[in-house]
Amino acid sequence: MAESLTPRGTDFEIDERHPPIRPRRVVFDWSSTPLHWIPGDPVATHIINSFHIVLPEGEKWFIQAVRDARPHLRDETLLEEIRGFIGQEMVHARSHQGVLDQILEANGIDTERITRQMAAGNAQRPADMEKLKARSPRSWRRRLRFELAAVSSIEHYTAVLGQWIMDNRRLDEAGVDPTMLDLLRWHGAEEVEHRSVVFDTYQAMGGRYPMRVAAWVVSLFFLYWALIGGSLYLLRQDPTVRGRVTLPRVWLAYRRSVRRGHVPGIFKLLLGEAPVYLRPSHHPSQICSTPRALDYLMTSPAAKAAGHNPY
Ligand SMILES: [Fe+2]
Ligand SMILES: [Fe+2]
Repeated sequence: MAESLTPRGTDFEIDERHPPIRPRRVVFDWSSTPLHWIPGDPVATHIINSFHIVLPEGEKWFIQAVRDARPHLRDETLLEEIRGFIGQEMVHARSHQGVLDQILEANGIDTERITRQMAAGNAQRPADMEKLKARSPRSWRRRLRFELAAVSSIEHYTAVLGQWIMDNRRLDEAGVDPTMLDLLRWHGAEEVEHRSVVFDTYQAMGGRYPMRVAAWVVSLFFLYWALIGGSLYLLRQDPTVRGRVTLPRVWLAYRRSVRRGHVPGIFKLLLGEAPVYLRPSHHPSQICSTPRALDYLMTSPAAKAAGHNPY
């Protein structure tokens, strides 16, 4: 077994609940990444690409939600974590945008039709929230809580997927493009690192269990829509396969990709997390591994090149 790279002194222990969170200013060069960056597997490539479509604007929305909560929080540790969270999500959004512009759009695949709508929603949101706050501070608070609960659910999945991609050696064996693999693992590791922030923000804003459940259900539908709709949207535009995209073919290819370990089984993964996330006593610190994330971040080519090591 590879020796852990996480520094451990006699009194050094990672606090899974509140690890220090700092952004790493990574940069990726996509000039030699092929369209099918999982070789010979366009379906798995586009399933993961569907995250690239929703993440840039999605993560900007996460930032808006925690920024709105910030003036109402008193816990200095949480406020410090929120600063780190915002910095990390900003770099994530920018990095995924690079994939859209330099890989998908460069290969004739339109992503703007979806991202434009999401960007319009984000641009409109601050004015809507201001109006709502002026009309009914109670309704404003309820809406913000619901948004935080929804983001918290999504952050649960980004952490779980982050752990999956860090641990998955079959992607290396399949010859996945190393720059893309590094982007996904760097992002996944930071998701594991900051996995508690939005959950803690939701609770600090007075969020309770029933709303956490309701927002999880809504988020689940959104994730299925994003993953299934996004993959089909991309496959139908992919110049190398678009004439052959039928639902049965995509389903069979998806099952094969799951067996090969190129993508997780999304039905099992999303619903299978219900007993974990919906346990009333759940806290994100009980899942995933911060030491594992930090180990990866110390070897990640992009994180190393960014020259920032919080330890
Ligand atoms: Fe992120
Ligand atoms: Fe995140």
